[in-house]
Amino acid sequence: MSERSRFLPRRSCLAVPASSEKMMGKAQGLAADMVFLDLEDSVAPLEKEAARENAVKAINEGDWGDKVLCVRVNAWDTKWTYRDVIYIVENASERLDEIMLPKVQNAAEVKALDLLLTQIEATTGRQSTVGIEAQIETTRGLINVEEICAASPRLETIIFGPADFAASMEMPVLTGGVQIPEYPGDHFHYVFSKILMAGRANGLQVIDGPYLRIRDTDGFRDFAARTRILGFDGKWVLHPDQVTVCNEVFTPTQEQFDRAWDILDAYRTATEGDRLGAVMFGDEMIDEASRKMATKFVTRGERAGMSRRVTG
Ligand code: GLV
Ligand code: MG
Repeated sequence: MSERSRFLPRRSCLAVPASSEKMMGKAQGLAADMVFLDLEDSVAPLEKEAARENAVKAINEGDWGDKVLCVRVNAWDTKWTYRDVIYIVENASERLDEIMLPKVQNAAEVKALDLLLTQIEATTGRQSTVGIEAQIETTRGLINVEEICAASPRLETIIFGPADFAASMEMPVLTGGVQIPEYPGDHFHYVFSKILMAGRANGLQVIDGPYLRIRDTDGFRDFAARTRILGFDGKWVLHPDQVTVCNEVFTPTQEQFDRAWDILDAYRTATEGDRLGAVMFGDEMIDEASRKMATKFVTRGERAGMSRRVTG
């Protein structure tokens, strides 16, 4: 249902191994905006085939509310990808919104998935198109991120995978996606910005990957705030404790939301009533660029269920 899910919020994206029926059951009751049932790295090779069946059962029989519902298949450099896609999309109900493709190296990998999905949809008579989420987590993928983001109209998000990326870069770290105190700055700043620009240039939501120290809530909040401040839409969560923090970090405050609405009102009055392109809003000059910035806050807040506070 990519038409359904394309603009839904993805502040918190919960990873759930499809090998665990228990975890898939629990995930349904958590407040994550998006859930992906994983067939890739959290599932042992000997469990891959059983995990496909579990995932289909969970999609078809579970109560997923309004969550974006996705399955992460194995990457194209394994033997599992084509069977993952065919089994899942042929057997899952229309409630399945998307397929996530990990370790994407170039645009051709996204196009190959797109073609496969097109054939499966034609064969099964599926009414809604399946969306694609693409993970950038290799050096080659980052080099090609611009062509990857433009590779298919099915793409809904682009995601950074810090653990695999650290491995691909051969960084001397043993935990991906956390701060490196010895480095004077944020060692992923360039990566975050590059992925964000490529995603935005193609109208995609842009998502940060996991924070692996799941008991370190303060560290998680700090890392989530880094990508939020750059403009990312959300981040992965691996544990129920991370869900609440993540939703909070990626939702505008009520004050920001109300101020954004006030800017839009003031700008509309100026342009439509007084025919002015730039006006004062308190101590600040606002113009068309301010309208664009404010619109983002309003859209994001509304996606998160916020409404304007009535004053006076
Ligand atoms: C996620 O898949 C990662 O590798 O960080
Ligand atoms: Mg990975």
